[in-house]
Amino acid sequence: MVILGIESSCDETAAAIVSEGEWILASVVASQMGLHARFGGVVPELASREHLLKIAPVVEEACARAGTPLRQIDALAVTEGPGLIGSLLVGVVFGKALAQALGKPLVGVNHLEGHIHAVLLENKVARRATPGLPEARFPNVTLVVSGGHTSLFHTETQTTADEAAAFRYTRLGQTRDDAAGEAFDKVAKLLGLGYPGGPLIDRLTRFGNPHAFTFGPIKMRGNPLDFSFSGLKTAVLYRVRGTTLESEAAERQAWRRSAGAVTFDELRARCSQQTLDLVASFQRAVVHDLVTRTLQAADACGVDCVFVTGGVACNSLLRERFAEAAALRGLHAFFPSPALSTDNAAMIAAAGYFKLLSGNFADLSLTAHASWPLGAAGAASA
Ligand code: KG4
Ligand code: ZN
Repeated sequence: MVILGIESSCDETAAAIVSEGEWILASVVASQMGLHARFGGVVPELASREHLLKIAPVVEEACARAGTPLRQIDALAVTEGPGLIGSLLVGVVFGKALAQALGKPLVGVNHLEGHIHAVLLENKVARRATPGLPEARFPNVTLVVSGGHTSLFHTETQTTADEAAAFRYTRLGQTRDDAAGEAFDKVAKLLGLGYPGGPLIDRLTRFGNPHAFTFGPIKMRGNPLDFSFSGLKTAVLYRVRGTTLESEAAERQAWRRSAGAVTFDELRARCSQQTLDLVASFQRAVVHDLVTRTLQAADACGVDCVFVTGGVACNSLLRERFAEAAALRGLHAFFPSPALSTDNAAMIAAAGYFKLLSGNFADLSLTAHASWPLGAAGAASA
């Protein structure tokens, strides 16, 4: 079965052609990063207008790269939510129109479920090439960590009577304020580093001392598997405000504006050691919190398999820390490749494949949902 996946929930217009839910024949992502960079964050109205311009060319490009004309597509899968409503609607309406025109079935996919399936899809392909590789198994604990989400799930699967896999997600915890990626982006903006902040901070931290600034552990009242990053972001602000770091950030910001495109080395040369130390300490605090709560969830659920996915899963320190924890505890930690960690449509096609197998088709009433929780909230239990 060849599926055309379409993703437009935030600032990436993406289309992919995926065969049998696992073979990526083409994956095209048109990023709007440059468009939003000067605002230091995604501007929703600009995002939806850009999706409108890009959606048809991106789908055409995916078909061309895969060598699969639209008439050879068996089905379509489109991100239904959660995300920016105007952005989502572009993908949903385009998907519905195309499915109608082609006379093919359509499924709506939850963006977070897509991120989870990015792990599965790559693991299946890798294991076919190298059968001895560990299997991304269920039940597991999954951390979805991106610019819009930071949530922990207990994920189970069962095979239904018709041999289709059904996935059950229990939401163990989620952020009460900023998502981790959002905190990276806001701290980068505060320091005049550029957008998106996550990848920049990730690279800059290699030149800083992560122990130079101490940030206390993030305490959560109530559910210990919830997250909160706005306090940490404010703590960074207090270390900057009224100090030389503040004037340095303002100068860097003005320099970036006037210079236009700047290289990473130029940016680093404009950062004092204190700034590098601050971002390294901030990153260490975020990663420590993400790893600690995820391992706590894995313990509480009695699972030895952890999936980590979403844009922040690209973070080098996060990958390192999970790999260390995995080695120490006999745990298996799975990450998608960086290209499949950030938003893409291959993960939407992969998640959609299982929905198609179980006959979970959408009709013309399909619409977008800005807010659409995945699974039911529940406590962690072994
Ligand atoms: O999954 P994604 O592409 O979009 C959302 O669904 O939000 O994630 C984008 C987020 C941004 O906040 C970006 O700063 C962050 O992922 N990110 C990173 C890294 N690469 C991307 N954060 C930390 N370290 C990275 N290497
Ligand atoms: Zn995402």
